[in-house]
Amino acid sequence: SKPIAIAIDGPAAAGKSTVAKIVARELSYIYIDTGAMYRSITLKALENRISLEDEKMLSGLLDDTSIELIQGEDGQRVLVDGKDVTDEIRTERVTNNVSDVAKHPTIRKEMVGRQQLLATKRGVVMDGRDIGTHVIPDAEVKIFLIATVEERAKRRYEENLRKGFNPDLETLKKEIERRDMIDSEREAAPLLKAEDAIEIDTTSLTIDQVAQAILTEVRKLD
Ligand code: C5P
Repeated sequence: SKPIAIAIDGPAAAGKSTVAKIVARELSYIYIDTGAMYRSITLKALENRISLEDEKMLSGLLDDTSIELIQGEDGQRVLVDGKDVTDEIRTERVTNNVSDVAKHPTIRKEMVGRQQLLATKRGVVMDGRDIGTHVIPDAEVKIFLIATVEERAKRRYEENLRKGFNPDLETLKKEIERRDMIDSEREAAPLLKAEDAIEIDTTSLTIDQVAQAILTEVRKLD
């Protein structure tokens, strides 16, 4: 069947990237993690000690920044100006600052342009906050993943434990809530379910059940 675009949006830690990767693999599609792009410019801004409120400086910085998402054997790698930052963009420092960078309209405009170029060929699964509403408004399948904040914090907690960190559940919950608030309340392309998106509450579903539900929507198009 003809390759399509699948947009997956939702709040922080709702399982978007985990599920998007599975769906992409099943369909032999490309997976594009747009959050990684916002994280990349945030990392570079922090490294360059640029104020995250200085929209003009940030957007100048982004104009001079190449961000590449590469599909490697061991998953997706992220390169900023050719340097591998895959792990660095997941640190708490970046996570807790990225929403302040992503709220600026000029930053979003540039990112959306880059993301739209990546999606022109179809055969893509893209996840983020504004994919169904702004990046690929004509995506053939739009999914909006939600889960209670308790469940999302718990998942992050377990993920961090597996990575060998020493997480605090309450702190994680507060960080997720804060990020969701900034992402939902910003003026430029806030986190919002597209009118034609299918909402899936993943609170009591397994990863595989969510992936299968999305694949079922894709097969309905055949
Ligand atoms: O998906 P992830 O948690 O990596 O996204 C990090 C942050 O990047 C989000 O909290 C949000 O501020 C921003 N983002 C965005 N629009 C997207 C993807 C991510 O504003 N399409």
